[in-house]
Amino acid sequence: MDSIHVTGNGPLNGEIPIAGAKNACLTLMPATLLSDEPLILTNAPRLSDIRTMSMLLESLGCEITPNADGTVQELRTAQITNHKAEYDIVRKMRASILVLGPMLARDGQATVSLPGGCAIGARPVDLHLRALEAMGAELDLRDGYVHATARGGLRGGTFEFPIVSVGATENALMAATLAKGTTVLKNAAREPEIVDLALCLSRMGAQIDGAGTDTITVQGVDRLHGATHAVVTDRIELGTYMLAPAICGGRVLLKGGRRDLVSAFCVKLEEAGIGIEETPDGLVVERKGNRVRPVNVVTEPFPGFPTDLQAQMMALLCTADGTSVLEERIFENRFMHAPELTRMGARIDVQGGTATVQGVDRLRGAPVMATDLRASVSLILAALAAEGETVVNRVYHLDRGYEQVEQKLSACGAKIERVKAA
Ligand code: UD1
Repeated sequence: MDSIHVTGNGPLNGEIPIAGAKNACLTLMPATLLSDEPLILTNAPRLSDIRTMSMLLESLGCEITPNADGTVQELRTAQITNHKAEYDIVRKMRASILVLGPMLARDGQATVSLPGGCAIGARPVDLHLRALEAMGAELDLRDGYVHATARGGLRGGTFEFPIVSVGATENALMAATLAKGTTVLKNAAREPEIVDLALCLSRMGAQIDGAGTDTITVQGVDRLHGATHAVVTDRIELGTYMLAPAICGGRVLLKGGRRDLVSAFCVKLEEAGIGIEETPDGLVVERKGNRVRPVNVVTEPFPGFPTDLQAQMMALLCTADGTSVLEERIFENRFMHAPELTRMGARIDVQGGTATVQGVDRLRGAPVMATDLRASVSLILAALAAEGETVVNRVYHLDRGYEQVEQKLSACGAKIERVKAA
């Protein structure tokens, strides 16, 4: 298995281009199942999760033609030739459940394996299923699969999500575009990826109001057509790389970055003493002072502080001048990076969903293990600021969500390299 070797090397200076959002692309790609015409996605990220989604869609009958560098994906599902999403693909990635709503909406039938994905808590799919039931789907859970049917097609309905779920909102939104009549989704997720999906679906002919607010109204149409859509900037990749100069010192331009995508996160960085400047090319992040100030963080649905930046923020706070408290409210069991950071000299006490981080002067390099996608990049960030060499093992987690990490960071002066497994 590949590993990444990082040696703390002082301040970082330069530019880092931010790719299209993994999580947006993973919900935009299944939208191909809603139409027999081509859907062209530009600004697509080049990641193993995207390849997994491609494999899944191809297994259902979609033809996918990427351009030479993989940043443009043309998807065409003339017909859904197979309505079963097999366990072998779905288990690799939880977002696979997003094929359920579109398949059901187009053909009135879908069988999807219950998903796996990052090991960050139980992560059920009950809300996806309940929202589809509110649109008339009949569901049967057998042998680890959801067997869904909608004889005569889905019909509009009203569904109020008891808790905010990004994926369930996306599944329901896609399904509602082809349902008969009006669907109202209450307590819907407001993430930029939802807005991006709604924009793309509207380009395909869907009638959607209120995306980006907590109530989304969809007027079903008979069919959707082809479209070309540019994937929104990856706010999690953006936030992650904003932390690199925050941790190491220096000044970095995050090309394509926008403050509105990460505003709650920016507030916390500024509280810690980090300078953030908006420019026409992107966000410029600079650390002027010596040590950052401690801050308290609570993860929340958008527009709150994103759970997907909690591990990386913890890496920063490990060397803050005082004690910070991080409260994880979205997922249980999302502090698996804490014991690994402790191996590097951090002082972290985890009690349930709360981590108390007492800042230390300096972290020290150590062999560590990536446990999930965001945890793995938090270890790389910590390593950039640590004394000596850190070896991050199990980096396949990283490759699911970050393209060219070594290239992007070394272009700013970091000492980082991938060592291929023999
Ligand atoms: C998406 C993101 C993920 C991010 C998360 C929260 C993708 C591919 N992944 O995941 O990176 O961390 O949003 O911002 O976009 N829940 C249920 N029942 C359900 C669905 C969710 O109880 O049917 C719970 C989850 O266990 C979790 C909470 O709801 O506690 C929020 O999860 P959700 O927003 O659905 O996350 P995902 O869409 O899976």
